[in-house]
Amino acid sequence: MDQLDIDPTFESLIQYLKHSRGIDFTGYKRSSLMRRVNKRIQTVGIESYIEYQDYLEVHPEEFVHLFNTLLINVTGFFRDRSAWDYIASESVPKIIADKDGYENFRLWSAGCASGEEAYTLAIIMAEALGFEQFRERVKIFATDIDEEALNQARLGAYCSKEVTGLPEEYLKKYFDLIDNRYVFRKDLRRSIIFGRNNLVQDAPISRIDLLTCRNALMYFNAETQAKILTRFHFALNSGGILFLGKAETLLTHNHSFAPVDLKRRIFTQVQKGNLRDRLLLLAQAETPDTSNFRSNQVRMREAAFDAGISAQVVVDTNGTVVLANERARKLFDLKAKDIGRPLQDLEFSYRPVELRSRIAQVYSERRSIILKDIEWLQPNGAMHYLEVEITPLLNGTGVLLGTSISFSDISRTKQLQEALQQANQELEMAYEELQSTNEELETTNEELQSTVEELETTNEELQSTNEELETMNEELQSTNEELQTINDELRHRSDELNQVNGFLESILTSLRSAVVVLNRDLLIQIWNDKAEDLWGLRFNEVQGEHFLNLDIGLPVGQLRQPIRDCVNGEAQLSEIILDATNRRGRMMQCKVICTPLLNGQKQLEGAILLMEAIVQEEPVQQ
Ligand SMILES: C[S@@+](CC[C@H](N)C(=O)[O-])C[C@H]1O[C@@H](n2cnc3c(N)ncnc32)[C@H](O)[C@@H]1O
Repeated sequence: MDQLDIDPTFESLIQYLKHSRGIDFTGYKRSSLMRRVNKRIQTVGIESYIEYQDYLEVHPEEFVHLFNTLLINVTGFFRDRSAWDYIASESVPKIIADKDGYENFRLWSAGCASGEEAYTLAIIMAEALGFEQFRERVKIFATDIDEEALNQARLGAYCSKEVTGLPEEYLKKYFDLIDNRYVFRKDLRRSIIFGRNNLVQDAPISRIDLLTCRNALMYFNAETQAKILTRFHFALNSGGILFLGKAETLLTHNHSFAPVDLKRRIFTQVQKGNLRDRLLLLAQAETPDTSNFRSNQVRMREAAFDAGISAQVVVDTNGTVVLANERARKLFDLKAKDIGRPLQDLEFSYRPVELRSRIAQVYSERRSIILKDIEWLQPNGAMHYLEVEITPLLNGTGVLLGTSISFSDISRTKQLQEALQQANQELEMAYEELQSTNEELETTNEELQSTVEELETTNEELQSTNEELETMNEELQSTNEELQTINDELRHRSDELNQVNGFLESILTSLRSAVVVLNRDLLIQIWNDKAEDLWGLRFNEVQGEHFLNLDIGLPVGQLRQPIRDCVNGEAQLSEIILDATNRRGRMMQCKVICTPLLNGQKQLEGAILLMEAIVQEEPVQQ
């Protein structure tokens, strides 16, 4: 766990995801994980992890959004170009050279997201081998935990923004443009096998020559990374290449991989080798000395032996000390008389380490043994460290002559080693801290990138909404312009109408007679001032009323027939004189002229009545 403050509610949420959906995030770095979950929580407008867990139970569709947020799928073709160039120019040619012409190549893109990395591998291999060899000999396994990303990867179809990392010549050579999408060549696509694989739980794919696991390891804590790396070690052939992301390295002190190019995060799998076999081979390569100056050499050898930088004692097969060089004499305080004495009589045969049983072992096994880190307490209380090597001495025919015992004082080396080890540990810790900060930064960077992508998508959506609004605006503007034209026309007509009305009204006002215009149903359409004056009713009181229903001083019933005749077109003009009473109650005789009302097409529209008092008004007789 990379965080000291463990939030039990968050851990419970992680457990819930594991049990309900089978995705185990326990090995992921908490800081990044929490940040991502918090993002979702904010989006759905919830306050706590407990509430969010409840929300997930009620809204199972939220799992998809959550996993999309947690499994950051940021990727690209030839991501970190210089590292890919190195893989293409150095690693791949070496992998090819190490194979016989008929052997297959197996590659694995672990955590392949939407597939760009797997297709990049395919392009590099096809460039190195040619299409035919590629189709026959290459298999690329591309795996991820995220099914949705895998489905995208399987399609192998990318929009123009997604192929920006691809050199133009590869785009032309490896992709077909179909419906505005760049689709990876079908014949080469068959060599790539996409599948779901959980790096933490599932068995690795085996016999791999090149394994890329880029920008996925960094989401896991150190313990889980170590577990995954053990799987990768198993997956890779001896000498196979492991290619990590630019912020990732082998955090745990790992002897299973050796760096090929540390800066570009390229490593090679190290098969735990057999050192003994290699040393034997080295020993066999040595040739015996057959010089003519033998006696001279013997003297020189003796002098060299005496001056040797390690203390050295030679014991024959009888257990007699036969030689001791200067350093040995000094170290164990040996005198000339001690040479020729049995080893067991001398103190150094049992202090600082018991020698006789080891010599017996060397005789029986006929090979050297090395005793490391032998502690030797000095009379002054200081501790010395020795390395003791006991080597069998054989003549040219393999007959045992005795043993050589050398004592190297490694106290200083030991001190230095310890100091170095400590410094190393501190350095390693500092490095790991730096590394983890680096990874954290990279994670944040990836998250930022993903946020930027989200923002870009939102922006595009906004832009398209904006465009739509803009179109609607244009449409509205054009409708508005049309309306304005219609409005202008209407206003013009209305003015004309007003003019005509004014003109008509002035005619009606100027006439001496009362004028009443009826439609075909005898409803009153026009009633001029004189009619008002004569019958005491205003136009607004009679407008639309049936003329024959009027209660005025005129016996309208007597006009029924003449009006109907006019309206039906049976009479052109009727003139009737009627006794009537005007609005002041005076009796009078009223001349009524009724004529048909014709429209512009000479069709009957109603009737016009002209009324005029023709006798002097007389007061009403009470
Ligand atoms: C940032 S992407 C890296 C994609 C690609 N390797 C690259 O570097 O461009 C990390 C990928 O790791 C995947 N991943 C996360 N946890 C995983 C797991 N436990 N097993 C397999 N893949 C996992 C995610 O789904 C995501 O697609």
